[in-house]
Amino acid sequence: MELKKFDSQDELVEQIVKIVSDIISKKPDALLCFACGETPRPVMDKLVEVRRNGEIDFSRVRLLGLDEWIGVGRGTVGSCSQMLYDDFFRPMKFRTDQINIFDGLSKNLEVDIKNVNQIVEELGIDFVLLGIGMNGHIGLNEPGFNPDEKAHVVELSDMTKKVMPKYFDQKINLQQGITLGFSQLLSAQKIILMATGERKAKIVKEIVSSEPSNGLPASMFKQSKHESFFFIDKAAGARL
Ligand code: F6R
Repeated sequence: MELKKFDSQDELVEQIVKIVSDIISKKPDALLCFACGETPRPVMDKLVEVRRNGEIDFSRVRLLGLDEWIGVGRGTVGSCSQMLYDDFFRPMKFRTDQINIFDGLSKNLEVDIKNVNQIVEELGIDFVLLGIGMNGHIGLNEPGFNPDEKAHVVELSDMTKKVMPKYFDQKINLQQGITLGFSQLLSAQKIILMATGERKAKIVKEIVSSEPSNGLPASMFKQSKHESFFFIDKAAGARL
């Protein structure tokens, strides 16, 4: 995993947008996987701008959601699917047949997991954009996770239960999630781990100074065999 520091979030975002655009130019039906949340939002905003300007044809791209809270549906503000649809999929005018995301209200998660695993296996992930939890979680792969897992259901860590209600406009009881597994994330052709802002400075320092360990999920990308980058802005890198 190569660390890349940017003077500003804008420069960092520009670079990611360029990378995504290059991938799509070379492979118009690339499979792209995005985390939801605060971190990737500026990248999504910029991609929406690129689409509006008609610079890139996104009509054949495939999208994969990274994770979801179990028991929370797309109609709930704060669900990953709500954020992805409102921040990205709808403004990008992606068709539903381009999109595969977890449904937190699904009655049959086993079947959903099988379907997602099959998509990843058949198509292969070309690009994944990841944020980092305050405990270093990736997707919802929490500290202590099994790196060999594919998509699976997880029990959320106490830190995640405490921090993640920030996404919701109502009181919410988060206990479990569903996430792509690390073996799938590590199989992506290009991986970008992104951290911006001062609040990520402490965990960024831990990740940079740690050996790969499943106690700190983000550090496991140091073992990646594909192209993987850790993009941070000045504020997130303030403790390095
Ligand atoms: C969300 C996800 C999480 C977040 C992480 C950081 O799909 O996968 O791992 O990326 O919790 O969240 P933000 O970006 O809101 O700080």
